Amino acid sequence: MTAKVISICNLKGGVGKTTIVMALAEYLAGDTMYKKRVLAIDLDPQTNLTSALMSEDVWERQFESKRLTLPYLFKDPEYFLENVKSENFIVKQNISNVRNRNSFAQLHLIPSSPRLFEIQEELPSGYYSCNLKPVELIRTILKPLLNNYDYILIDCAPNINTVIKSAFLASDGLIIPCVLNRMSIHGLDLLLEQIEKFNRYYIHNLKTVGTLISRYNGTKVQTEHLNSISVNPFYPPVFESKILERAKIAEGLELSNYLTYKQKYDDSHDSMVKLTKEFIQRVGK
Ligand SMILES: Nc1ncnc2c1ncn2[C@@H]1O[C@H](COP(=O)(O)OP(=O)(O)O)[C@@H](O)[C@H]1O
Ligand SMILES: [Mg+2]
Repeated sequence: MTAKVISICNLKGGVGKTTIVMALAEYLAGDTMYKKRVLAIDLDPQTNLTSALMSEDVWERQFESKRLTLPYLFKDPEYFLENVKSENFIVKQNISNVRNRNSFAQLHLIPSSPRLFEIQEELPSGYYSCNLKPVELIRTILKPLLNNYDYILIDCAPNINTVIKSAFLASDGLIIPCVLNRMSIHGLDLLLEQIEKFNRYYIHNLKTVGTLISRYNGTKVQTEHLNSISVNPFYPPVFESKILERAKIAEGLELSNYLTYKQKYDDSHDSMVKLTKEFIQRVGK
């Protein structure tokens, strides 16, 4: 079985991308009967997923200071691909603040770094001397890892630069989190256009697995937006499970103390379990 690679992307920030990657990773690897082997990848220079899943101290001492985070792959792929083994750039210990994480099947993380902000200007327009283009790098590092995982989840930055395109090229599918307001739906329209362009340009078949409603509070305005995107075939099919707007979920992005799933996800626990099931049904085992 090779891993299914899924990018979680939206051109807007604050729509719950990182929260969704964290929750899916924790539920797929842990609480459910599925016990999947999961690799989460943080491709956002804002590093929120990295901070939510691992100790910043460990990140600094064992990864960033040793140039084992993703910007160094893009800066110098010749060195990175030749000399850095996956054991060194994948964090395998002490991921997540879920209290029973020791019973996870497997949850690993490839951390990000704020240095990813400066990468775009430094990328070659053509090939590196190792005969790869920047857009091929994520696919290249994932290829030898595909048999080690069931799911690889990529938390994308809210833009479509070369780094994000490299995630798309490595991915089988895309989940688009969407908050039910006008700006977020405009972002969704634009993203769908960009994906179509991307698929044409790279002769790729990146499929949208679905639109995932996030920060849902069931107000009249949200319900109207939900109805309009649910019936419009232009939009990828909306997941039946929704992520509710809950203060506890926001607090769960802080790694400070160890929590049970119910403490971390509050009354959203049951909908997270359902979402995990729906994810597996849609993406495949
Ligand atoms: N379901 C939710 N309920 C309440 N707050 C949320 C929820 N999802 C996200 N947030 C808050 O919104 C902010 C943005 O969420 P995040 O997952 O980081 O979005 P993105 O990755 O799209 O920028 C977070 O700081 C978090 O506090
Ligand atoms: Mg984020």
